[in-house]
Amino acid sequence: MKILIIAPEIAPFAKVGGLADVTGALPKALEQLGHDVRIVCPLYGCIKRDESWRPQNKPLTVPTGTGMRYARVWERILPGSGMPAYFIEYDEFFARQEIYEGPWGWHSDNDRRFGFFSRAALEMCFWMDWMPDIVHAHDWPTGLVPVMLNTVYAGTKLGNAASVMTIHNIQHQGYCDRSIISFLGLPEWLFRADHVEAMGAVSMLKGGIFHATKITTVSPTYAQEIQGPIGGHGMNSILRFRAADLIGVLNGIDTTVWNPMLDPALPTPFNAANLPAKEESKKRLCERFGLRYDPKKAIFGVVSRLYEQKGLDLLRNIVPQLMARDDIQFVVLGTGEGELEYAFSDFHGKYAGNFGTWIGFDDEKAHLVYGGADFFLMPSRFEPCGLGQLYAMAYGTIPVVRATGGLADTVRQYNPVDGTGTGFLFDMPSSEAFLHAIERALELWKDKERLHNVRSRAMQQDFSWDSSANAYSNVYRWAVEARNGIDTSPLM
Ligand code: ADP
Ligand code: GLC
Repeated sequence: MKILIIAPEIAPFAKVGGLADVTGALPKALEQLGHDVRIVCPLYGCIKRDESWRPQNKPLTVPTGTGMRYARVWERILPGSGMPAYFIEYDEFFARQEIYEGPWGWHSDNDRRFGFFSRAALEMCFWMDWMPDIVHAHDWPTGLVPVMLNTVYAGTKLGNAASVMTIHNIQHQGYCDRSIISFLGLPEWLFRADHVEAMGAVSMLKGGIFHATKITTVSPTYAQEIQGPIGGHGMNSILRFRAADLIGVLNGIDTTVWNPMLDPALPTPFNAANLPAKEESKKRLCERFGLRYDPKKAIFGVVSRLYEQKGLDLLRNIVPQLMARDDIQFVVLGTGEGELEYAFSDFHGKYAGNFGTWIGFDDEKAHLVYGGADFFLMPSRFEPCGLGQLYAMAYGTIPVVRATGGLADTVRQYNPVDGTGTGFLFDMPSSEAFLHAIERALELWKDKERLHNVRSRAMQQDFSWDSSANAYSNVYRWAVEARNGIDTSPLM
């Protein structure tokens, strides 16, 4: 099958969160299944180019409501594959360094930036003279892709392509002024509640949900949660309306990048058969985060965007109480809301040697936290899938997580009676419940034999992309057949 992936982020080039990890890894897994895959992303100012990047001579013409615009295409082979990734250079929208928000907040023209990108990415098919069977769009920035396929491209060679809209996070819905419709040259009648209109504005994501042939989200539990009034963030009724076309497919992990046997960020490689070598990573982690190395203390690690979704205020509230114990240390790597950045930086000074904070985005340090910590914390209020807990488990670092979304689907509760499980889960989004889960983890810390068993069990799970890529293949087949009017219900 020919698959065009349209992505606002792609690892390792442009990453804000897990979406980039997914769009960086899924194409490779699909290619291995024999699909012909191409991926398109904007060329942001933060993307570093070397001689492996090839500028293309042929300009990309992009029709908009304000006339034809011309962009330049760059080609780069996706690392670890033979597949071309295309990057669209258009300085007015993408030359700035940041992807969604700069030092002064959210870019006020994000609707035009990503609306334009969506249209340009579809125009790439004509530019390449390559018509996909499937166009796979990701999150609100590409929400207008399915809308465009059903309207301005409907009568063209591209119009037969089926679309798949993947929701990585329903909280972000791409609200903007209705002028985006005319800016992109789309029909004005789309401004209706059963197309792109939402609360008097345009929601790009809502348009995508209405118009996509099939909709996926990144875990089975989240697929249920978003159909309810709390998890749906206002999109629940439309998602229920389209429930027959909605499916949860769990993310995988790229085992060439997230693998303690191959990881250049770790001082010594290790695996489940050689767990004592993990201690070397713990020592390096202590050095880098300013902790006093003490093998008797358990290090609890965090690698996260510091936003309400991630629930790290629950951690902030219980740190003073936990720091009174003599068996615990913390490392926090993150960036986000000023209040949390300030609180964790403050702990770094107040509990010097036992609390290490690094404010910023640092991929190498992230690898070191997964490799060197003993436990990994994700007290998320909601979590569509979560990759942190998967990376942590792959590195023998035991997750302590809230039982929501993909966290509930991937972490199995430790049972102190028989020693089974792969981590610790708690239900209520409260500091008390979280504290109790951390205390349970510290009980396991005392029993080194069981700790070893839980670690090696967590490491030996298969979270590679293989089975998820197969699931996406089925969704694509289901979408192509639906687009052509064939009933495929037995397939799924
Ligand atoms: P989300 O996409 O909601 O942020 P995920 O758990 O799916 O959550 O993915 C987060 C990704 O971003 C992981 O690859 C994680 O390692 C990475 N990450 C988050 N914060 C940082 C940071 N401060 N520095 C480096 N990597 C980070
Ligand atoms: C989103 C979600 C996260 C998920 C990631 C990749 O950013 O918050 O849970 O793992 O997308 O799908």
